[in-house]
Amino acid sequence: MRLGLLFVVAIVSSSQLLAESTSFSRDIAPLFRNVCASCHLTGKEAGEIALYPQVAWSNLVNVPSRQSSHMRVKPGDADNSYLMLKLDGTHLDAGGSGTRMPFNGTPLSEEVRAQIRAWIEEGAKDN
Ligand code: HEC
Repeated sequence: MRLGLLFVVAIVSSSQLLAESTSFSRDIAPLFRNVCASCHLTGKEAGEIALYPQVAWSNLVNVPSRQSSHMRVKPGDADNSYLMLKLDGTHLDAGGSGTRMPFNGTPLSEEVRAQIRAWIEEGAKDN
């Protein structure tokens, strides 16, 4: 009986873990503040995109990119989100320009990029 209950608890909590979605404010914005906002601060610099936490979402989601005909972030479509292309280094194939982001830095790990991709695929919510 007790074992059965434990089993149920284990199943419920692991399915909650699986269902948990990526949070912009918890998972993405702090990363952009640490890695990107030193350059992307006022939005007047090259790239014209401020990425500190209070403005990052509204400068990304459904905003046309300056360097290509893509949206910076197209909710539900990471493959056509210019942000993702710039982070993966595939932006030139998509008609973009400039270098892979972060500019002159170490590319973000595959794990971190997968998290950003998941956030976009889940609808790029301001959550
Ligand atoms: C050392 C400075 C620097 C850092 C750090 C940096 N960027 Fe950039 N970013 C630039 C410059 C300069 C450009 C324009 C030239 C280019 O694309 O190479 C740019 C352009 C961009 C663009 C294109 C904007 C558009 O509308 O087309 C995106 C998106 C971008 N950066 C995202 C990021 C993200 C996300 C990070 C952090 C992971 C980051 N950048 C880190 C300097 C930087």
